[in-house]
Amino acid sequence: MQIAGLDVRAIREQFPVLQQEVNGKPLVYLDNAATTQKPTAVLDAIVSYYRHDNANVHRAVHTLGTRATEHYEAARDTVREFLNAAEREEILFTRGTSEGLNLLANVLADRYLREGDEILISTLEHHSNIVPWQMVAKRRGCHLRVIPANDRGELILESLPDLLSERTRIVSVTHVSNALGSIVPVREIIRAAHEAGALVVVDGAQAVPHLKVDVQELGADFYVFSGHKIYAPTGIGVVYGRRELLEELEPWQGGGEMIRSVSFERSTWNDLPWKFEAGTPHMEGAIGLAAALRWVSDVGLERIAAHEHHLLELALTELAEIPQLQFIGQAADRSAVISFAVEGAHFSDVATLLDLSGIAVRSGTHCAEPLMQRFGITGTARASFAVYNDESDVIRLKEGLQKALRMLGIVA
Ligand code: ALA
Repeated sequence: MQIAGLDVRAIREQFPVLQQEVNGKPLVYLDNAATTQKPTAVLDAIVSYYRHDNANVHRAVHTLGTRATEHYEAARDTVREFLNAAEREEILFTRGTSEGLNLLANVLADRYLREGDEILISTLEHHSNIVPWQMVAKRRGCHLRVIPANDRGELILESLPDLLSERTRIVSVTHVSNALGSIVPVREIIRAAHEAGALVVVDGAQAVPHLKVDVQELGADFYVFSGHKIYAPTGIGVVYGRRELLEELEPWQGGGEMIRSVSFERSTWNDLPWKFEAGTPHMEGAIGLAAALRWVSDVGLERIAAHEHHLLELALTELAEIPQLQFIGQAADRSAVISFAVEGAHFSDVATLLDLSGIAVRSGTHCAEPLMQRFGITGTARASFAVYNDESDVIRLKEGLQKALRMLGIVA
């Protein structure tokens, strides 16, 4: 089947994990906002690294050490190109978005936050972009302010002039809401924040797999994402930071690799990017990430986005035929995520019954409790699409929900 010029059948065949039955039914995997499955190109890159090249990076003069270092640093070049960062020194490897945001919260707090300063986040944030800022705000005597969202799950940008002031040092916002799929007009927020003299961090975990991100065009000071949401392994992520800012920040974690010299009296720091990469890094993670980014580029991010958007529109039309569903979040600009409540049923029961039909969706607060509170709910069920989903997955979701409603006695 060809959707948006993609041969989805051929793509699906590249994902071994999708070739299985769950509870006696062919698996329909719709939990992609939580984590994506991995194509053979990524699996093979990781296995090949361990079969042929594994050694610690940046430390050894032997042949495997040199090869491992070359692969690891080539992965950085691939990320630089994918994000269109100006320089490879602006790409830091981390464990993921959460670690990236913790890193930034800590180093930015040390450098820029003073008592009474403000950090601006938004109602749409994942806990990873709330809690680190709360922790440093408490330590430095700062205040957290929050951009509100409307009933469709869109940020109310008209509030920005009131929220931004000379006290605002850092603005940290998501590019795409993990719970609702709302695409945030981050360019507008970046412009307003910069006019107010604040630095901007963007959480791109849910954006990078679905939208073309050009960090130079966006103008963000820092941009963070995770590998595992873009077909790469878990435990690898990226912080992009503008070089002049990274240069003047102190490192976060200490250890091997991030130093130039160490004595018992004092230590000095390595150059970028290694200043921020203490310890043995996640080599196979970086190599797997590079393989995933090459794979996504070969398929074509624009085509992936168009394909996912087609599935979103189809799912919204099909699911609208189930009157007991209430969609939570209906932003005009959104990625392929559908959050919903079912009248008369708990979201966990709905997800469990869908699993019995072989359909994987996530249920709960989606690590966004304040957003759930904004909507006066305790959670939702969430279906999120990726490149390997197709129209039959949408129909299976609809049929699975209709069956769940019958099993729950909500419809006859
Ligand atoms: N942040 C991930 C999600 O949205 C885990 O499900």
